[in-house]
Amino acid sequence: MTFKPEGIPGPIEGEPVARPKALVVRQATPLLIPAPPIRSMSTFRAKQLIRDNLSIPTLPAVVQKISNMIQDPDSGAAEIGMLVADDAPLAAKVLRIANSAYYGLRERCLSTEQATSVLGVKVLNNVVRQAAVIQQFAHLKDCPGFDIDDIWRHSILVAHASAEIARRSTCKLDLTPEEFHVCGLLHDLGKVIMLDSMGTEYLTVYQEAPAIGEPLHILEEKRFGFNHTDVGAMVSVRWALPAQVSAAIQYHHGPRESVQEDPVVALIANANLVSKRVSEDQHEAAALTFDEATMSFLGIDSEAVEGIIEYVDQAKAELVL
Ligand SMILES: [Fe+2]
Ligand SMILES: [Fe+2]
Repeated sequence: MTFKPEGIPGPIEGEPVARPKALVVRQATPLLIPAPPIRSMSTFRAKQLIRDNLSIPTLPAVVQKISNMIQDPDSGAAEIGMLVADDAPLAAKVLRIANSAYYGLRERCLSTEQATSVLGVKVLNNVVRQAAVIQQFAHLKDCPGFDIDDIWRHSILVAHASAEIARRSTCKLDLTPEEFHVCGLLHDLGKVIMLDSMGTEYLTVYQEAPAIGEPLHILEEKRFGFNHTDVGAMVSVRWALPAQVSAAIQYHHGPRESVQEDPVVALIANANLVSKRVSEDQHEAAALTFDEATMSFLGIDSEAVEGIIEYVDQAKAELVL
């Protein structure tokens, strides 16, 4: 699809969700959301500040190795499974995720080799990525005032939502559902990295944003000159992910014109918002995330929207960390 319809909403995390009264009339309430301020800081300056202030993690080695093995015609499911099995804590996590209700396997997988052959290498790759990224920041688990599990649950839900929207889309999208899964998984990783590098300086802002009713990414930018979308985008570049993954992470909170220009960005921005609303049990608001113009831009119809919301709701019930 090449046309750019008017009025694609730029869903902004932290902006007020449609109130129940407004939901009585089925109309495109997201269009009423005011446009976010255009970034005042140049991306270049933001990158410089990030380099000066943060330590950007490297891609977990196992994820890199699996990505290489997937490209290599001589490597099969057994080799990939054996590689994961070498890291016992990671393998345990991978098996827990693979055996969760979400994947609905008929028989319980007892080894990572078996999990690879049952799920397929692409799905296993995402499961390993999820487990490895979470493991990489395990030291932040007990940080008071920062519920990292909440961030992971949200990220995994956005990953599943993004992949499902992509699967249902009739548009020719530039990323595969598996790559959309990666976008969703990593879209808020910047928050975790900022906490990891900046400690209480970041925690203060993280807690202050909801207390004063300011969207977190806006307050981050005011205080630090960059926000978690800048950090996430930089990580995806460092991890050599496709340029569109980086763009989707960079613009998942807008500005609106970036969301309107690119279906990949629009898909992640909407997956973020719909997942948040489903998590908060705001199903009607979740449905209203997708107005006519958004559905047309994403290549989905109202039946697909119903299916997506049902899917996200089920994923929410079945996901494990
Ligand atoms: Fe975000
Ligand atoms: Fe998010």
